[in-house]
Amino acid sequence: MTSALIEVKSASRTFGSFTALAPIDLAISSGEFVAIVGPNGAGKTTLVNLLTGLLRPSTGSVTFKGQDVSRLGPVRLARMGMARGFQLVTVFPELTVAETIAVAAFSRLGRAHHWFSSAHSDGDINGRVARVADAFGLTDRLEQPARLLAQGEKKLLDVASAFALEPEVILLDEPTSGVSTADKHAIMQTLVIASEKMGVKAVVLIEHDMDLVATYAGRIVGLHAGRVIADRPKNDFFTDAEVVAMVVGRPPKGFH
Ligand SMILES: Nc1ncnc2c1ncn2[C@@H]1O[C@H](COP(=O)(O)OP(=O)(O)O)[C@@H](O)[C@H]1O
Ligand SMILES: [Mg+2]
Repeated sequence: MTSALIEVKSASRTFGSFTALAPIDLAISSGEFVAIVGPNGAGKTTLVNLLTGLLRPSTGSVTFKGQDVSRLGPVRLARMGMARGFQLVTVFPELTVAETIAVAAFSRLGRAHHWFSSAHSDGDINGRVARVADAFGLTDRLEQPARLLAQGEKKLLDVASAFALEPEVILLDEPTSGVSTADKHAIMQTLVIASEKMGVKAVVLIEHDMDLVATYAGRIVGLHAGRVIADRPKNDFFTDAEVVAMVVGRPPKGFH
């Protein structure tokens, strides 16, 4: 029997009297590419914050490999193989591509102090940077300042940075926002290939572009007003016009 990597059991989240996420159950296993979709305010980011331990659930539990994520903290979670997307390029535009990937590895492994003293002499980190750059086709760019990359490449570098930990599970919150459709597809294709090359077991992606979701995800979790309205294989999701209408934020046909 294969057990789930991530298990959500009756987890909810409230902010004051407001319910951002009603109690939900969700299990994500090795081999899955899961898209989380829904209109603005549906609770997508809140859900990913629960999955990554950034927020504690108000009720219920979230486990990664059987351990309660809210008790682990970000460093132990990273070491156990869970990584979340960064937006490092906007935070550190002056760093080179290599330094940006290295910062991701150092910060998530709880070694930020180390980075400032001896980043370039650390073979382990340099090896990670080289492997990530290779998987993402960024090897030729390593010594360039991140700010000089094209917009699509900046997004790709942010995605690549999450791979610096060589994680088993990766969670990305709208990693391709603000780029052209062609660039979105290029980034997603690179992400899928890099995941295979680097042995990533599961990808969880928040995405509002239904074309991307339909192309790359295997399973779709639709959220609406803090509730899971559908959790299905991709093909069963897109054949349900009412569900699709709800997650893209417009009323279904015939709805008044
Ligand atoms: N820290 C917070 N405090 C209060 N309300 C919040 C907080 N975070 C999210 N919310 C509210 O919870 C709801 C879901 O937010 P979010 O998960 O960010 O939605 P999505 O990512 O789907 O757009 C929204 O109504 C949002 O305003
Ligand atoms: Mg969000």
